[in-house]
Amino acid sequence: MDFRKKTVRDIDVAGKTILVRVDYNVPLKDGQIVDDMRIRASLPTLRYLIERGAGKIIVISHLGRPEGKPVPEFSLAPTIKRLAELLPGHTVRFVNKVMGDDVKMAVENLPQAGILVLENLRFSPDEEKNSDGFAETIISDTGAEVFVQDGFAVIHRAHASTDAIARKIPAVAGFLVEKEITSLESAMINPKRPLLVIIGGAKVEDKQPLIDKFLPIADEIAIGGKIAADGYRSYDDKIYVANDFVTDENGVKLDISKEDAAIIMIKVMASKTVIWNGTLGMVEDPRYAKASLAVARAIGSHDCFSIIGGGDTTGFVESLKDEGLKFSLVSTGGGASLELLSGKTLPGLEVLQDR
Ligand code: 3PG
Repeated sequence: MDFRKKTVRDIDVAGKTILVRVDYNVPLKDGQIVDDMRIRASLPTLRYLIERGAGKIIVISHLGRPEGKPVPEFSLAPTIKRLAELLPGHTVRFVNKVMGDDVKMAVENLPQAGILVLENLRFSPDEEKNSDGFAETIISDTGAEVFVQDGFAVIHRAHASTDAIARKIPAVAGFLVEKEITSLESAMINPKRPLLVIIGGAKVEDKQPLIDKFLPIADEIAIGGKIAADGYRSYDDKIYVANDFVTDENGVKLDISKEDAAIIMIKVMASKTVIWNGTLGMVEDPRYAKASLAVARAIGSHDCFSIIGGGDTTGFVESLKDEGLKFSLVSTGGGASLELLSGKTLPGLEVLQDR
């Protein structure tokens, strides 16, 4: 499927200062990264810029929701450490500011093709306000000549680093954004059939738009997770809702039953495209992760085009990465992939240059 936006391939990056928006909003525990998927996902674009002789590479991101104030636990510092480990021998530096003299000096001292990561954009309230002034200052303090949007997971927000900046200098997509969008759109527009959509998770208000969007497109929709446990009712022949559950000692339904998992696995084996968003049980507790595990293994060992979306589901699938399961796309975007799959437009994508 063709991508309708320009990408890094369409521009000359040699010798230029490139501003790259990534999404390093990774889960942290006691200052340690729990899952580095989003950092690894930024590597193809960064490596490409290095190989093509980019002058300086300035990386920007947010982490968490610090609400416009510097909050030490939301510093991007741990993510830079991980990025440096993933690019051994390459200059990767961090400056604990987003703008001002420290940033100017750090950019000036950066060697050819060096990477400089700025501090969390959301330490300033202007980021989420999509402030023009904030965008202009970042551009002038870093000397950025080109903007590359590769933070797929934040592309559904109209913030300064996803919208205002992209309106001021030439703005193109990175490889992660290209891969996510083309995979998700091809599954929606021209899927190999049969197309099965598996939906789990807790909040029906988040998932109903997805069900509405896919009802005319999918061959089957299977529903599990808390949504099913809370009594979701099928209203179409295409929709199968799990109706048998594993409960805890108090009778709380925390996973779908083995029998319901087997029904979904049979549907997986009969499908050519599978989209899975939302775990089928409370996977944080291994006792209630069995259905999700069985379905993940069925998808990952079956020859089909598969998309895994939603933060809990991708985290769960990533935790199985040593099993050698194969998925076509494990989406880095929770809200972003849900919004795209639900048919909404993504401001951070629309603003990029058209092909
Ligand atoms: C995410 O984790 O979904 C993205 O990083 C966006 O974060 P936000 O929901 O705080 O805007």
